[in-house]
Amino acid sequence: MPFDSTGKISFDHIYTEPDPRPYLRTLGALDYHLPQLAKPYFAKLIDERRSPTVLDVGCSYGVNAALYRCDTTMDDLSAHYASEEATQLDRAALIERDRALVRAPASRAARFVGLDVAAPALEYARAAGFLDEAVHADLEHDEPTERQAAVLAEADLVISTGCIGYVTERTIGRIAELPGGRRPAMAHFVLRMFSYEPVADRLAGLGYETVGVAGVFRQRRFASAREREQILDTLRAAGVEPHELETEGWLCAQLYLSRTAENSADNRG
Ligand SMILES: C[S@@+](CC[C@H](N)C(=O)[O-])C[C@H]1O[C@@H](n2cnc3c(N)ncnc32)[C@H](O)[C@@H]1O
Repeated sequence: MPFDSTGKISFDHIYTEPDPRPYLRTLGALDYHLPQLAKPYFAKLIDERRSPTVLDVGCSYGVNAALYRCDTTMDDLSAHYASEEATQLDRAALIERDRALVRAPASRAARFVGLDVAAPALEYARAAGFLDEAVHADLEHDEPTERQAAVLAEADLVISTGCIGYVTERTIGRIAELPGGRRPAMAHFVLRMFSYEPVADRLAGLGYETVGVAGVFRQRRFASAREREQILDTLRAAGVEPHELETEGWLCAQLYLSRTAENSADNRG
């Protein structure tokens, strides 16, 4: 398996499969469960707002939306795609089975929009009903089109898991600055080897305040001793002392909340 420039294994190939089975199989083997730990934080922010539009940046197959909408867990979702029954199904039948999961009316309390560079993952998430809208764009390199900007500007809340690092202040800044946009509240789970500071600084210029939530969140296990050593080196090089969970074998993330005065307290709705 190839490594990226941070020393982390590159999983780019599993983000572009026609359905989520390889994604969940591969990451499930490494106990990837960050979206499960993120779920109560995202659910609280969603439930505090009236029918919000939630933009999931780097949403991939729409796991965060699926966990919220289907009232399921990461373990159940992984089992759902790894079951004997699932391995026999073609993509269309898999989608049909997933659509049944999101039929409950309560799952419509929020609209979900996904942004990703991986078109097949977005197409699946949209077809399965996890996402209401999908934006296929790379805002690291390009301005959004007029149509994409209009969809992104509807966001009341921006969330992400495992995406900062792939995306930087360029993408997040472009979303926050959209003309007619709502200066959405943001909640990003960020691997500790990546600094959130450039994002926080960019948002501060737009009137946002950022707080880091206490504690670290286990994202997944290291895939090998080599990956563990490389990541511990990357952390130390970034001036971050490895946490005991990291030395014990877990890649860990931190949660940052960025909000403006308008979207943080009494003006939600
Ligand atoms: C580690 S995966 C996380 C997926 C999902 N959030 C989850 O937790 O299951 C990172 C995702 O970021 C996406 N990504 C990479 N570069 C991106 C970019 N410039 N803009 C938007 N998404 C990007 C990848 O395609 C991939 O789906």
